[in-house]
Amino acid sequence: MTDSLTVRDNRTGQEYDVPILDGTIKAADLGKIKTAEDTPGLAVYDPGFVNTASCRSSVTYIDGEKGILEYRGYPIEQLAEKSSFLEVAYLLIHGALPTKAEYDAWVHEITYHTFVHENVKTFMQGFRYDAHPMGMLMASVGALSTFYPDARNISDADNRHMQIVRMIAKMPTLGAWSFRHAQGKPYVYPDNDLSYTANFLSMLFKMSESKYEADPRLVKALDVLFILHADHEQNCSTNAVRSVGSSQVDPYSAVAAGVGALYGPLHGGANEAVLRMLKRIGSKENIPAFIQGVKDGNERLMGFGHRVYKNFDPRATIIKKACDDVFEVTGVNPLLEIAKELEKIALEDEYFIKRKLYPNVDFYSGLIYEAFQFPPEMFTVLFAIGRTPGWLAQWLELVQDKEQKIARPKQIYTGDRTLDFVPASERWA
Ligand code: ACO
Repeated sequence: MTDSLTVRDNRTGQEYDVPILDGTIKAADLGKIKTAEDTPGLAVYDPGFVNTASCRSSVTYIDGEKGILEYRGYPIEQLAEKSSFLEVAYLLIHGALPTKAEYDAWVHEITYHTFVHENVKTFMQGFRYDAHPMGMLMASVGALSTFYPDARNISDADNRHMQIVRMIAKMPTLGAWSFRHAQGKPYVYPDNDLSYTANFLSMLFKMSESKYEADPRLVKALDVLFILHADHEQNCSTNAVRSVGSSQVDPYSAVAAGVGALYGPLHGGANEAVLRMLKRIGSKENIPAFIQGVKDGNERLMGFGHRVYKNFDPRATIIKKACDDVFEVTGVNPLLEIAKELEKIALEDEYFIKRKLYPNVDFYSGLIYEAFQFPPEMFTVLFAIGRTPGWLAQWLELVQDKEQKIARPKQIYTGDRTLDFVPASERWA
């Protein structure tokens, strides 16, 4: 058996052999299939890239049917239980687990880049009092490119490393300040005695106390949530980072595009939407009517369904467990009851079974975030902080991949052609 595909073009009767490599054919090979030499070759039409591989990647492996998620080959369950977010970030960026010396140097580097230029603070203060923190994060991470103009030298490995360290270190600072801004509270500077996640909580919640030390169980739970969100191969925001990065722009601008993509309700905004949905349902008695609305096509059950996972989302299982740890500290969120009942009813309903719709990572994460007393607008910011090492690992791969080109899809043109332009003075006469 040869690894090739024989295609017969019934328009011309001609046959073509197209090589198959890694279960894919090259779309460019289809371009050789033509009805005449001067006509465009065959192309594939794939809105949303549902069946198109855009890159080779060794960062994250997903088997959606089996519910498997691995970073650099390590199962997410083991990383969530036994690793830390900064170790996972190292793994994603460097491709292998660190030695003790490498890990210590990495943590030191990240810790000592958490401060931002004072002018960043000044311009963040210029946002409207009720600015959405995700809009502030997107703008401020993009603006970092103006503070580090050397970042555009993306062909230099040391330079790339410096920007990666800066971005992983500063995202919590920018995220926390976006949160404080909306609350009208003073921005809190980083406390470099604390761990990455504990420092983030300090920048979020510290008031007049000389040191803010969060409950270690909450620090651990948030660290796990960051790990769960750290990468997810070619999702919408990663594709945005890669697409913008393919123009060879600096990584701050590319990551700002990722933050923008994550902002949308079908992607990172889903957990915010889940919480709003649970509040709207209000009580268990209203669930059947809500489910009927979903089945009638009037609603979407937010936090359900995934482009890749068709049996279960392994992150959802870990998050459900983290819920218990967090609620032990904060007390149970009453919306949890509605969420559990909604999940139970939906999982037994033919509509959801037939379409392979299961809870995704966002179904429970919003409940945990609310227990931390984050307003829903902050949920996606937390996601963005967790996803930053993944975006950067993917960006790093992109800029070193000789097969990559500037992202530039084809289109099927559906508009008019060769119209004669009549000047406004004649059209309106
Ligand atoms: N509620 C109700 N019906 C749904 C849902 C849902 N949440 N998700 C999918 N369906 C239905 C669709 O209407 C469609 O039905 P049809 O075949 O009768 O037309 C079928 O299931 C297939 O759905 P698609 O939209 O084609 O699936 P796609 O892979 O394009 O979408 C997505 C995946 C966007 C995640 C979708 O399931 C969705 O909108 N879910 C709710 C939003 C959400 O939770 N997003 C978070 C994703 S995880 C993340 O980004 C971290």
